[in-house]
Amino acid sequence: MGLYLRAHALTVAQAGRCSTTALIWSLVGCLLLLNLFSIVRHKGKGGEFQLLASHHPQFRELQQVEEENIQIPPPRGKRSPRAAKRRPKRTTTLIDEFLNEDSQLRHIFFPSQKSVIDPSKDAGNDSYYYYPGRIWLDTDGNPIQAHGGGILYDELSRTYYWYGEYKDGPTYLAQKNGLARVDIIGVGCYSSKDLWTWKNEGIVLAAQETNETHDLHKSNVLERPKVIYNEKTGKYVMWMHIDDANYTKASVGVAISDNPDGPFDYLGSQRPHGYESRDMTIFKDEDGVAYLIYSSEDNSELHIGPLTEDYLNVTSVMRRILVGQRREAPALFKHRGTYYMITSGCTGWAPNEALAHAAESIFGPWETVGNPCIGGNKVFQQTTFFAQSTFVLPLPGLPGSFIFMADRWNPADLRNSRYVWLPLIVAGPADQPLEFSFGFPSWSRVSIYWHRKWRISKVE
Ligand code: DGJ
Repeated sequence: MGLYLRAHALTVAQAGRCSTTALIWSLVGCLLLLNLFSIVRHKGKGGEFQLLASHHPQFRELQQVEEENIQIPPPRGKRSPRAAKRRPKRTTTLIDEFLNEDSQLRHIFFPSQKSVIDPSKDAGNDSYYYYPGRIWLDTDGNPIQAHGGGILYDELSRTYYWYGEYKDGPTYLAQKNGLARVDIIGVGCYSSKDLWTWKNEGIVLAAQETNETHDLHKSNVLERPKVIYNEKTGKYVMWMHIDDANYTKASVGVAISDNPDGPFDYLGSQRPHGYESRDMTIFKDEDGVAYLIYSSEDNSELHIGPLTEDYLNVTSVMRRILVGQRREAPALFKHRGTYYMITSGCTGWAPNEALAHAAESIFGPWETVGNPCIGGNKVFQQTTFFAQSTFVLPLPGLPGSFIFMADRWNPADLRNSRYVWLPLIVAGPADQPLEFSFGFPSWSRVSIYWHRKWRISKVE
């Protein structure tokens, strides 16, 4: 019996050890399976693309890192030896130079009339060339006026429409020491088949000259217009930031048209979900649901909410995102099921550091994945190449690559603000947060590459 008992006890102990080992092995198996799943998921999302990217010559060209070495000039005028002793030489930064209208470096940030992009003259045999910051002429030979804008690709006419603030008026201060502004003139619209040659389609939503109580009275603010097409109603719907000259109205306006080139009928403005709305954008998802994204609560956070089916209103659903991060100028896009957004900080017309954010669901949680700007130099990277995000457009023919559209504001002469269009690529591991899911970083890196000149191959 004793033996039996001992034997039994041994068997129980062995069985216990066996089941622990089995448990450990099953756990290891599960982890391996999960890891495999994670690899497959990761591959599905970015792996193939990275392979494609590294092999495609155009990708390699777009991802080239170009440096800028700009020498800050010594202060003008001679200083007496006594003054030099009293006050050490004032050092200026590139940002000071950028903000100084009299800077000797002005031509670097705002190249003169002599170096315009004129699509009627400058096309290469097989490429279109982009020069961020240069004056860009439309097909009539006039500078394009589409600031704070966005692009709609109209499937019906296979044409791109670029809408933006038409700012071709004098800049003045809203109040003494107030913000620089231009009266509302309206929303400019340009059409293009190739994203390079733009035909002026005129002002598709015009300011009100006389009715002072109207949202669009010239003394008010109309910024960041964006247009999407509603398949169900067959209408083109425009959303825009509507404000008074002191930015206290903080509202969003809607307009509608039967045609992409207008005219748009203004339907009115509101504070969406009852909250302040300043910088904003709209985003139409693959399933046809559209969303409004706006800076709110004194710009301390962004709000996101779906639009009604006709895209003319918001619904009651709203989520607060990037709470406490003080971001504006949102530009949202989607790549392989993940939502991405580029935003800026809040410094008026002065440039600041862009951040990229990513989310699995459009409602969040949104994670900040770092500064997307690569190349130029440190100051270029800290100032979004002296510009501010407005829109991200998929680059036709090269999946995973986008055009990052930004405004280089010229507060001294807002009509002479410039466009900074650069290649944006989603690939590789994100810089932050340094979170790993089974050995793989959770997010892909969003990279915007600085180029003085870059090109898109013409597609036959
Ligand atoms: C920054 C915003 O992004 C612009 O659209 C504009 O509202 C300026 N502020 C005004 O200072």
